[in-house]
Amino acid sequence: SAADKGGWSSFMAKEVSEEPEAVANTLRGRIRDGAVTIPELDGLDDLFTGISRIIVIACGTAAYAGMTGKYALEQWARVPVDVELAHEFRYRDPVLTPDTLVVSISQSGETMDTLMAVKYAREQGAKTVSICNTQGATIPRESDAIVYTHAGPEVAVASTKAFVAQITALYLLALHIAGLRGTLSADEIAVQAHELEAVPEKIAHILATEQERIEQLAHWMGDTRSVLFLGRHVGYPIALEGALKLKEISYIHAEGFAAGELKHGPIALIEPGQPVFVIVPSPRGSAVLHPKVVSNIEEIKARGARVIAIAEEGDVAVLPSADEVLRIPLAGPLFEPLLAVVPLHIFAMGLATAKGLDVDQPRNLAKSVTVE
Ligand code: G6P
Repeated sequence: SAADKGGWSSFMAKEVSEEPEAVANTLRGRIRDGAVTIPELDGLDDLFTGISRIIVIACGTAAYAGMTGKYALEQWARVPVDVELAHEFRYRDPVLTPDTLVVSISQSGETMDTLMAVKYAREQGAKTVSICNTQGATIPRESDAIVYTHAGPEVAVASTKAFVAQITALYLLALHIAGLRGTLSADEIAVQAHELEAVPEKIAHILATEQERIEQLAHWMGDTRSVLFLGRHVGYPIALEGALKLKEISYIHAEGFAAGELKHGPIALIEPGQPVFVIVPSPRGSAVLHPKVVSNIEEIKARGARVIAIAEEGDVAVLPSADEVLRIPLAGPLFEPLLAVVPLHIFAMGLATAKGLDVDQPRNLAKSVTVE
């Protein structure tokens, strides 16, 4: 009912507006004076100290959160991480040992593919941690440990606030493991924890300053047939998520690419008028990658692409070649995904709305897929 939506036009609109709280509530009680303490993991150090690798398993949007988490887990905890779709993982005879930690991610905690992969990993002797948004769900019950996201109930089929909460929980887990393994000092952990704590306000800033303009842009693009998304490093999974959201709720062809892969194929798709979202890494945080992505923008612009850049405030290098620039606040490189995804969620919602579609209940999809 309208009351459940709290005055919003859809659950998705409400849930996007709740992205700041989803992050803040997932952090609550887990950072104290710069130290990360996850009470649920008390007494479970053994799950993390002896591991030699991590496999993240999930489906859909949760898998893109997992891909983002890989960068933080490897950089901070110095453990090799593979991210795998749950339904692929289980059927390929994966190598699992007691020093493998399997981290599953699921908003519902009921996705059958993910559940079966967790059960399989456990049977093979791996350790399992579940990141889940639903108290008492099946996947956490089948796992050795649980880190709940506290995004609150998510009703719209396409996941939004749960995604930012999943990345937040993964980053907390990465800092926790880094602390236990001594790969980051207490001071280094405090710096990253502080960055995490700053995220909710930055997301709120994007919603306040860019939402209307993005909705307008989506409205103008109502008859678009295809949209491409480019990103590099942590921007890559965000490009994939931007494309998935568009497929899910606006039924148009959308694809995300790693920006470095452009010249190896996807650039052949660029023709005059093709809209391309480009997630631009910060020039301060990624001095090496920033100019490479800017030159990708120049390459596609030269071929007629309509470029919509998502770039840090003050990044002027994108101005000459981008048709539109959506701004995100300054943040450390690993934290940019939590910000850059927000305009993409708004855009997908705006485009679906412009097409007159039901953003909460897209055709053919279920919120939680409890069959294989
Ligand atoms: C379904 C939903 C997606 C979701 C995926 C994983 O396919 O339509 O939006 O990302 O399941 O769901 P989970 O509950 O496991 O995160």
